[in-house]
Amino acid sequence: MSTIEKQHHRGTYHFSPKENWMNDPNGMVYFQGEYHLFFQHHPYGTTWGPMHWGHAVSKDLVVWEELPIALGPDEHGMIFSGSAVVDWNNTTGFFDGEPGLVAIFTHHAEAADNKPAVQCQSLAYSRDNGRTWVKYEHNPVLRHESYVDFRDPKVFWHEPSQLWVMVLACGQTVCLYRSPDLKSWTFASEFGKDVGFHNGVWECPDLFPLQVDGNDSGTKWVLLVSIGDDPAFAEGSRTQYFTGDFDGERFKPDRVSRETIRWLDSGRDNYAGVSWSDIPAEDGRRLFIGWMSNWKYANLTPTAGWRGAMTIPREIGLQLRNNETWLTQQPARELLAYRRPRINNSRITAKAAAAVLEDLQLSNYEIRVVLDAANSLDIHVRVGSKEKTVIGYNGSASEVFIDRTQSGVTDFHPDFPGRHTAMIPEQEGTLELRIFVDQASVEVFAGGGQAVLTDLIYPAPASTGLTVFAADDRMIIDSLEVYELSV
Ligand code: FRU
Repeated sequence: MSTIEKQHHRGTYHFSPKENWMNDPNGMVYFQGEYHLFFQHHPYGTTWGPMHWGHAVSKDLVVWEELPIALGPDEHGMIFSGSAVVDWNNTTGFFDGEPGLVAIFTHHAEAADNKPAVQCQSLAYSRDNGRTWVKYEHNPVLRHESYVDFRDPKVFWHEPSQLWVMVLACGQTVCLYRSPDLKSWTFASEFGKDVGFHNGVWECPDLFPLQVDGNDSGTKWVLLVSIGDDPAFAEGSRTQYFTGDFDGERFKPDRVSRETIRWLDSGRDNYAGVSWSDIPAEDGRRLFIGWMSNWKYANLTPTAGWRGAMTIPREIGLQLRNNETWLTQQPARELLAYRRPRINNSRITAKAAAAVLEDLQLSNYEIRVVLDAANSLDIHVRVGSKEKTVIGYNGSASEVFIDRTQSGVTDFHPDFPGRHTAMIPEQEGTLELRIFVDQASVEVFAGGGQAVLTDLIYPAPASTGLTVFAADDRMIIDSLEVYELSV
């Protein structure tokens, strides 16, 4: 396979494995100046297969160095998704004086000899900043007889109770367990039986506290749960969230979280995402990355030699609106350092903007647009002779959308082409759109991250045109900025 063919559709500022298959991000942890990103990896094929943990590190969440595989299958099975933490106080006894990393993951043994598949939780630890790993000799540390789906442990230290807490997907609910040492676990509670979306298996939960934006709005807990593909739903796999309170044992959802289903992303390609562990308190951000694909067609996407990419890193926030708490996502600020300004215009008409953009040929960039929230605008990206991806804002409907029906290669799955919409709360004054375009993706952050859409696209490399379109071409755009993003 030629290098050109192999790099085709590879994002420039998105992480993808050098070779072969990737799905969920795993074990994200910050330790001694490095962000670690592990990932579900099949190192011998470009479709899902026996799972390993691939590994990459970064100093800034944007430029990643891929390292050798961290964990591979063993006598207990494949290595499914999970998390990693810094054991600062050597609660495990794995470390000698210095703190180290512990990975908590699912061992998955395939069904065989009329025996069903078994999923259980296990540990591995590293004394050298994640470069090499030792599996705990008494694995597994947590098993359960009655769940077939029992996986994806996300672990954090709960300061008030001085215990580790694990949130785990158990079929169609999440279970919480507690432990003093990561080795012995006690069941604490189960959540989700009578709330949330249940058409699809529950996977990859995460639970964390966040300060609510605004004066003295206090802290709320966020529970993320990814929901697997159900053939009856064109949306495929997607991530749901709840807000509520957590007392160390039990998650109690807010009223609105009980009554409505809330999705993290209104596009199709942000799945199995979780947050980084051990971000220093002085930073204080809740950083997130998701797998930029969808189980509906993940094994069919048209790349060669490798398959799978992550979203850009994002900062998760909470916002109080009409007495309800809502999640926001914003691009991590580290991306600002990679902006190379190409266009910067203020108070320009749509017609003049289209003229300014006419000469640009770009494939990896950010567009920032500010416009009167009552107006409407379409932005065409990755435009070629026969293709384009349309991103639109419609002020009268308070709607943002991505239309990828003509975005390039779309015929590998009937549910891939489509128009995906997000409602945004009515805005006063102006609306900001930040749009991240790369070789094979579009990520839209509208209204300060109140609505987010993440979609894969597969345009031809030569489809690098860019333009805007308004019904009235005298419409004023308050600000139009284009930044090439080069890493
Ligand atoms: C989510 C998931 C997880 C599982 C992993 C297997 O995409 O199905 O539940 O641990 O992928 O690769």
